[in-house]
Parts: sequence; C-alpha cells; structure tokens
Amino acid sequence: MCGIVGFVGNEQAAPIVLEGLSRLEYRGYDSTGVAVYAPEKGLQVRKAKGRLQVLSDQLHGGVDLPGTMAMGHTRWATHGVPSDVNSHPQVSTNGRFAVIHNGIVENYMEIKEFLMDHGVQFVSETDTEVVAQLLDYLYDGNLLETVEKMLHRIRGAYSFGIICADEPDKMVGVRKDSPLLLGYGEGFNFFASDVTAFIDRTREVSYLDTNEIAVVTREGIQVYNEYLEPVEKERHHVDWDISAAEKGGYAHFMLKEIMEQPEAIRKTISPRIQNGRVVLDDLHYEADYLNNLDKIYIIACGSSYHVGMAAKYSLEKLLRKPVEVALASEFRYCDPLVTDRTLAIVISQSGETIDTLTAMREAKRLGARVLSIVNVVGSTIARASDDVLYTWAGPEIAVATTKAYSTQLAVIDLLALNFAQTMGTIDQAEYDAILSDLQAIPDKLEQVLKQKDEIAYFASLYFNQSSIFFIGRHLDYAIGMEGSLKLKEISYIHSEAYAAGELKHGTISLIEDGTLVVALASYTPLFEKMISNVVEVKSRGAEVVGLTVDSHSEEMSKTADHIITVPDIHPMLLPSLNVVPMQLFAYYVALQRGCDIDKPRNLAKSVTVE
Ligand code: G6P
Repeated sequence: MCGIVGFVGNEQAAPIVLEGLSRLEYRGYDSTGVAVYAPEKGLQVRKAKGRLQVLSDQLHGGVDLPGTMAMGHTRWATHGVPSDVNSHPQVSTNGRFAVIHNGIVENYMEIKEFLMDHGVQFVSETDTEVVAQLLDYLYDGNLLETVEKMLHRIRGAYSFGIICADEPDKMVGVRKDSPLLLGYGEGFNFFASDVTAFIDRTREVSYLDTNEIAVVTREGIQVYNEYLEPVEKERHHVDWDISAAEKGGYAHFMLKEIMEQPEAIRKTISPRIQNGRVVLDDLHYEADYLNNLDKIYIIACGSSYHVGMAAKYSLEKLLRKPVEVALASEFRYCDPLVTDRTLAIVISQSGETIDTLTAMREAKRLGARVLSIVNVVGSTIARASDDVLYTWAGPEIAVATTKAYSTQLAVIDLLALNFAQTMGTIDQAEYDAILSDLQAIPDKLEQVLKQKDEIAYFASLYFNQSSIFFIGRHLDYAIGMEGSLKLKEISYIHSEAYAAGELKHGTISLIEDGTLVVALASYTPLFEKMISNVVEVKSRGAEVVGLTVDSHSEEMSKTADHIITVPDIHPMLLPSLNVVPMQLFAYYVALQRGCDIDKPRNLAKSVTVE
C-alpha cells in the first residue's frame, strides 16, 4: 500500500524523509516523491516513477533540497498508471498546496467536474490532485479551516499529508479509515502511515482516529476533531524492533494481510456502490452483447483459479450462461472452443503470471473479448486486456495470497450483480439482498477474525497430521480447494480437497483412525447432505472440524468434533467469509511446524516462467 512520511524540525528534512521512505519500501510501490518547504525557495516538489533509489540519486540523498520541513510518499497506483505525473505529492496549479495521499477518494470525479467548470485544469489522472486543487479552491487564508471544509466535501477511505506554501513550518495530517500515526521528538515531529518510517528517531507515538486532523510543527502537534475542537491524544511507547514494525507488530506478513482483509474489501467495493447500485465506471458492456454470449471462460492459475471455481457458481446462477473455468496452463494447449461471442475473464493478482498472460493472448487471438481482474495497476495483463477491473488490495508481500484472493472474490460479486442487472436476469429484491449483504462483508469478517485464537488452538491439535482432507459441496467445495492449497503451500502437509459427494467413489478409502477432515458445510441447501458425509467419515475414524454458519452451529456441533462458525450471509457470498478460517488454520499449522511462512520453499509470488 502507499506510504506517507512527513517531518518538521531543525535539521535538513529531505534526507530524513527519504530515509523514512526507504523503511516503507517493503510495502511495495511503483513511484515516489517529496515536497520540501524552504523560506528562500518556497515549496519544491520532486517525483520519479520507479524505485526510491532513482529519486534519491537525482537529489543526492536529499541534500539538494534545502529546508527543514518535508513530506514524502511511495505510491501504489490506483487511479492512473504509475508515472512521474501521477506520483505524489500532487500540487495545486498555483503551487500553493502539496498533497500526499493513501487510499481512495470515491467522489473525485464529481469534484473534478465541479472544479473544471470553475476553470481548474488538471495534469494527472489521480484522485489526489483533485484534493490539492479543491484545497486551493476553498482556501481562505486559514489552512486548518480549509482542510476541515475539504473533508466535508469528499467521501472515501484515506489519509493525507498536506503542506500549504502560505503557512510555512506547519504540516497537516488527516485520516479516515487509512492509518496515520504521529511521532513526537525533541525539536522535531513526524506523521507517517507506518511507525517504521520514524522508529529510528522516536518511539513516542499516537494514532490518529478517523476524521481527526493533526497540525504538526517543530514545537509540537495539536490534534482536532472534525469540528475543529482540540483533542488530547494518548501517547504510546513502541518497543518493536524494525522488522516487527514493518509487519505492523504481526509475526508475519501473511497474518498481517489476513487481518487487513476487511479494509481491503471495503476499499475494493465501496467506491463501486453508489445509490444502491453497482457502478463499474470503466466497463461498457451492452445488454445485447451479454445476452448473446455463448460462453464465459474464466482463466487463471493457483488461488486466482480457485476464485474462478467459486465464480462459476455465482455467475451461472445469476446470468444463466455457461461458465467454464480453465487452468491457464491447460487452456493454452487444449484447442479451446472460443468464438467472438465468448467473454474471457482473466484473474491474476500480479498481472504478470506467464501462463495466464499467454492463455489470455490465445483467447484474444481466437476472438474472445478479455476482461481482466488484476491487483497490480499497469501490469502486463492489465494493459493487454480489453477491459480491466482492479482489486484494490494493496501490495501483497507473503507468497501465499490472502487479501488479493478475497478482493478478487468481491470483484466477481460486483461483476455478477452488474452483468445480471444489465441482462435483466435478476429481480430487484434479489439484487438488493445480495448488494446489502456484500456491503456487510467487511464487518462480518471482523467477527470471523475474532476467532483466531480458537483456530490457533485447533491448529495446535492437528499440526502433526501427515494428510488433511477438505470436503464440501457447491461453493463450499470451491473454498475447500483454496483451504487445501493454503495449507499445503505453507505447512508442507499433504492435503486434498474433495467434492463431498465423491468420497464414496474412492477417497473414503484414505480415511483411517485420527485422520483430520475439515468439513465445510455452510451452504444451507446442501447442509443435510454434508452432515451425512460427516457421519460417513466419522464412522471410519476421522476427526472432523466442521465449518458452518451461525444458524447451523447447533446441528453441526452434534456431529463434528470441533466447529468454527461464520455469520449468516447470502449464500453467494459465503466464500468471502469461509475462506478466512481456512487461511488462519493454514497459518497456525505452519507456525506450529516452524515453517518459513512468508516465503515457503520452492514457491514464488509471481511466476513469470512457464
Ligand atoms: C503463484 C502464487 C499464488 C498465486 C498464483 C497465481 O503460484 O504463489 O499465490 O495464486 O501464482 O498468481 P497471480 O498473480 O496470477 O494471481
């Protein structure tokens, strides 16, 4: 995710800010920039696409930029491709305001149009420039009041760092749903998105709450609420070392990313839901085109393929069109039946997986229109497809994907609703019910995540197993596949996922005394059939951890040895909740076994060779 660091003190600021940014590099980024204020030079901004080193070399480590107040940014592209001009800081046309920004301003288009009607010209594609220009438009000689007015005009999840050339020696930090911390020193102060940025200089911190505004000077920091009433902040002493700080205090990036899922999903869906409708601005699919489709192909690898397995159920149900899910490495060589009435949906976190890329080119060559679902903005797959929908999960560092997978699922749900409405295959009541439950996912996920200690306990019971089976039906089967993959990727335990109805055709012979079976039984229409399967494996000696929804917990606990529950939700959305206990289980099993969780043996985050 993007990184923010701001410093004001008595030393030259640019080298300190560049040093702070270097500590945020682990988060992933595609461009960088700094804004420095010096009385004799005013506000100076320098930006560069690519590694921080590029910017640092241009500025001789920051020495070229005098001034004792600066803020810097590492950008992970969302609105607009990675480029010098789209990098932050973004500056108002007259150079008065510089803004750095993490997150998304959801209503930036309407504000942009408003400002353009008032003669403002824009140079970048970013939502951040809209904020810089809006601040300038609203400026009345009082920075704090102007920031407050700006906050009442924008919607979204964000944190900002702001410098105004007319009010030197003062930086403003503000946040809503995207973290911003304050760092207190002797004769200097910081704001940053992550404690790592300044932990070498101060360990005294406070955490801004949503809608709080911090005015940071070298003498001190004053925090206000959104009505500009002063707020007293509690200070904390951070005693993490640097590597723990990078992980936000978590032992591994994987756990941090699991815990980030509610926020990642919120960021991915909320800008695309407006006035009770899914709005996918970048897509223009006509009803005629969709209704005439002969087939939808979903093409992907690894966990992205498992998203496709879940998507098949929801797309076929809502669109009444055949959906075929193909492993990219197979699709290329299977002489696939593709026509110009085929839509290929290509799913990839990295946007660089070579099998997926070449399969996509093949689908295009055969006449398909290609829609990609990608996390990395400007990646090869995103650029080469006809249309792209981005997941806004932010950078994922652990090799085993978690939050990228969850946001891919969320994008599929948005797409299914959007297409179904265009095609007229869904009635309004069903549409409203799914959309309302989709918006409830982040909060329900917070509840699921609260069970992590219980799941850690189950892991402590079973981490010595040599084989673990996941069984489920329908969407639960698709999630079982992902649960099984997560487990084998990071714990090196042999594991397989089976459609529960297939057990009696062979797999059941593998069950013996003490074998662990994880039974996913959350899909209500098939709950009773799943209970029968649980009874089948139990009578062959299996130990069963059952996963179900709250409303079936009593029934499930009569049969399974242990149960994990998730809140009830529209059945189509169950995978978004169910996958999280599977991720946590894999994580804690791998932890018990002492595995290298973030970098499992033989695996790579992005597979760019066939
Ligand atoms: C690798 C990763 C998996 C990922 C797969 C597909 O195997 O370890 O986590 O699911 O590639 O990657 P993609 O970037 O195309 O989603």
